[in-house]
Amino acid sequence: MSISMAALKQLLSRTNTLWKPAARCLAQSAQQKLLPDDYDYDGPHVVTQVPGPRSKMLLKSLDNIQNTEAVQFFCDFKKSRGNWLVDADGNRLLDVYMQIASLPLGYNHPAVVSALTDENNLSAFVNRPALGVLPPVDFPDTLQKLLQVAPPGFCQVQTMACGTCANENAFKAVFFWYRARQRGSLIPTEEELESCMRHEEPGSPNLTILGFEGGFHGRTIGCLSSSHSAPLHKVDMPVLDWPIAPFPVTKHPLDVNAQENRLEEERCLDKVFQLMQEYKNKGRPVAGVVVEPIQSEGGDRHASNSFFRQLRKLAKENRSAFVVDEVQTGAGLTGKMWAHEHWGLEESPDIVTFSKKMVIGGLYFKEEFRPKGAMRIMNTWLGDPAKLVILEAVLNVIQQDRLLDNMTETGQVILQGLEKIQDKHAEVFSNARGRGAFCAVDFPNTSTRDRAVATLRNKGVQCAGCGAKALRIRPALIFQPHHARMFLDILEDTALELKSLGT
Ligand SMILES: Cc1ncc(COP(=O)(O)O)c(C=O)c1O
Repeated sequence: MSISMAALKQLLSRTNTLWKPAARCLAQSAQQKLLPDDYDYDGPHVVTQVPGPRSKMLLKSLDNIQNTEAVQFFCDFKKSRGNWLVDADGNRLLDVYMQIASLPLGYNHPAVVSALTDENNLSAFVNRPALGVLPPVDFPDTLQKLLQVAPPGFCQVQTMACGTCANENAFKAVFFWYRARQRGSLIPTEEELESCMRHEEPGSPNLTILGFEGGFHGRTIGCLSSSHSAPLHKVDMPVLDWPIAPFPVTKHPLDVNAQENRLEEERCLDKVFQLMQEYKNKGRPVAGVVVEPIQSEGGDRHASNSFFRQLRKLAKENRSAFVVDEVQTGAGLTGKMWAHEHWGLEESPDIVTFSKKMVIGGLYFKEEFRPKGAMRIMNTWLGDPAKLVILEAVLNVIQQDRLLDNMTETGQVILQGLEKIQDKHAEVFSNARGRGAFCAVDFPNTSTRDRAVATLRNKGVQCAGCGAKALRIRPALIFQPHHARMFLDILEDTALELKSLGT
């Protein structure tokens, strides 16, 4: 796609300064357009069913090569811009899902395009280094960009390729830390080095990570052993004997149902405590607890700030590390850079993992979680500095355009709109909930939810489900109140249509 010089200049004049954390909370009206007019539209433009004939043809050729059962339609990324996704058949959809919650600034944002076309950045795209052994000369400076947006309390960071990789390596860091504390040294003994090769103790210790029902952390064996959101992710896979705690089944709105929710949260915290004792007694202590601030793949399940504060305390009392998986919630969609910043923790988490809207995967960790010895947290690429070039552009835009405030403001419009529609059409959906623009509603069952997603798509909105019956909203950080109103109008239309079909 070509970008007009005027548009580029206008954008770049706002996006060439470094991130300053103190400026995060400045207010600005989200009504001011964040992109030039030729990046926005008055509405969707749907000319065929989605998927259309060209998408169907492409699907056939892709299916010759790989499994395509999850493919929805093909995209024309060159023609897509801002919040608007153009598909292979020329349909233009308002995208409230953004490539599985991952694009921070939507499509072809001028600041990102400019970073990619800047000659000074060329070598980062041309030469992919093995970062753990031969990093580029500017790597320490580049990592400062990640540290400038670190959650409070962190000054160490390790990049990774994706969210799963971030979590799997977070668990490794937890186990290294736990064993170092037990043996009183960071250096493994000869006996440990020898016994680990036979999968025997003490080199291969019986340590566990406590995860939650409904949690999702990735698809490798460690991540799957702590994930409990969908049977299809787990079936046929061997898993580790790690404890599974119940996650609160809360009622929305949380504040209106605070008393009932508190009892439910206490039940779950009691169970966490019991599991910690039980696993200690069976010689498989809980070395770490992993939790998402909002269970995302599990169906947008929320708990109160107090629940998370108490969970953090429980982890500390049990001498377990507290790992917060911000792969889906991080990077601003909830109105704060990190969703766990809403909790008001007395002590920060021990490790925070990220990916998706952060462009690169990775983990922030406290100094005591830094492994001793080369190659212990390692893989060939350890991420990709080219992604950090993009991230720098993204962070500058987040700051310059005050996109966290935009998410708070737009989130209010979305949530109030969802509540209004659910009041009118309670039989279609309910349980409107959200933090910032990270919002969801529940349909009565999976098939109605899936029909809603398909209907929305054919009316020009790209969105997705999560859990058994939730519809999730995960727009880009440039999604503004006027986009939210367009989305809500189409959602209401969809509700009416589902109602007329007898939902
Ligand atoms: C909370 C959470 N953790 C981890 C992951 C895994 O990330 P990735 O798909 O990048 O491996 C996801 C992916 O959806 C996620 O939502």
